[in-house]
Amino acid sequence: METFVFSNQKGGVGKSTIAVHKAIYHADQGLKVLFVDFDGQGNSTASLSERSHIGPNAVALFDSPEIDMPTPTAGITLFPGTGELNDVERLPNDCIRQPKTHLDKIASQYDYCIIDTPPTLGLRLIGALVAADYALCPFELSGYSIQGLAQITETIQGTTQKFNKDLVFLGMIANRFNSRSTGQRSAFKEILSHFGDLIIKPPIGIRVSIQEATDVGKAVWEIKSGAARAAAKEIRAVLEEIDRLVNKEYSNE
Ligand SMILES: Nc1ncnc2c1ncn2[C@@H]1O[C@H](COP(=O)(O)OP(=O)(O)OP(=O)(O)O)[C@@H](O)[C@H]1O
Ligand SMILES: [Mg+2]
Repeated sequence: METFVFSNQKGGVGKSTIAVHKAIYHADQGLKVLFVDFDGQGNSTASLSERSHIGPNAVALFDSPEIDMPTPTAGITLFPGTGELNDVERLPNDCIRQPKTHLDKIASQYDYCIIDTPPTLGLRLIGALVAADYALCPFELSGYSIQGLAQITETIQGTTQKFNKDLVFLGMIANRFNSRSTGQRSAFKEILSHFGDLIIKPPIGIRVSIQEATDVGKAVWEIKSGAARAAAKEIRAVLEEIDRLVNKEYSNE
């Protein structure tokens, strides 16, 4: 099983949207996908619950000694995000190792694990990074992007050094990019010169059909309209680029 975490302490940048699309993308390939929603808002849970097998609540990965899993099946198995997840931030710090311990036990039965995280630098984010093989950061372009990305990069690098030497920071995904805005175009240029290869290309534009799709629990390629087709092409390009980066990691080993 390969585990991916979507992270950024800034809210509303597309963590849940891209995580949900990656899960559906691999489920469409006939693979077995675990989806862990560590955000108490439960946005990904709302998008995925109708199309998923339901597993234990995600909070159990932090606070239960044992977890009860359904039989592994092709498609998505969801660890739903519930309000109790906020209490995780008050657990002793060593709870950050628990999700990995639980997920390691079932790893051989699944192909992918995708973890969505809340917009906070807390124990849930660190717990997700400890359990992950790969970290990805969606971001939105603004004058503050560099500052925010520097902060999450530091968190990822710090977690790698302290707790998970094998974690690979695959990169950052520019989302809701408005190519017509001069401000955004120049912010993107600046980010590229600052973070270079860590920026996954191409950016994903502002696409209403992406929001419409996830609001009704679909991937944008499951919506039939010209606008949705264009949006699907963009989001698929990013998912394929992520696959390519992972394969490159393998060939470097
Ligand atoms: N490329 C896009 N074009 C248009 N709307 C988008 C795009 N990506 C995401 N959205 C919408 O923007 C909003 C925020 O996205 P999302 O919930 O994925 O962000 P998030 O980083 O998970 O937020 P939070 O930190 O609150 O969990 C959602 O309403 C989503 O549908
Ligand atoms: Mg979210």
